[in-house]
Amino acid sequence: MLKIIIMFILAYLLGSLVPGYWIGKYIYHTDIRNEGSGNIGTTNAFRILGPVPGIAVLLMDLLKGTLAGFLPMIFGVDINPMLVGLAAILGHTFSIWIGFKGGKAVATSAGVLLAYNAPFFWMVCAVFVTMLLLTSMVSVASMVGFSFATIMSIFYYHDIILSIVAIVLTVFVFYRHRNNIGRILHGDESTIPFGLVYWS
Ligand code: G3P
Repeated sequence: MLKIIIMFILAYLLGSLVPGYWIGKYIYHTDIRNEGSGNIGTTNAFRILGPVPGIAVLLMDLLKGTLAGFLPMIFGVDINPMLVGLAAILGHTFSIWIGFKGGKAVATSAGVLLAYNAPFFWMVCAVFVTMLLLTSMVSVASMVGFSFATIMSIFYYHDIILSIVAIVLTVFVFYRHRNNIGRILHGDESTIPFGLVYWS
């Protein structure tokens, strides 16, 4: 039992690491929470700090989730990796390092899925990239990606734990993107400089 508790705490602490905030603060002397969308994730790091730190944040946020997903195997316990990953996602969104605030859960959730079911991860990535190219909006691509993952978990994989985690995360991700949704509805959501739609 102690082993399981330690594993969940470790997953939470892993998820709590905030590369977006730390790279901005310690390398670029910029608090990205006060710039752009104010998010500490990849998109805002890319937007405010540039492509190299943006990609670094993406990889580190992904890696946190993937490592958390492998913790049950490392600890030798028979617990669904999605549940342990959920602790890392909680850490990412309510980080101990920044007053229990955090990101929008996109990259870290994707990292957990990569550890749990790599082919499914790549399928979701394909949907994400397609939506990104069609709309040029990371927020839309993220929300559609999560919705797609939920539908596939329920109707294709018939995996109860994955489906429940996917539903919870999708609701949470939409909630976290509520400001983005407002901007999308007003036509002033920021876009990336490629894709079919580009108006910022
Ligand atoms: O992963 C977050 C992304 O979907 C939106 O980021 O900074 O545009 O709110 P941002």
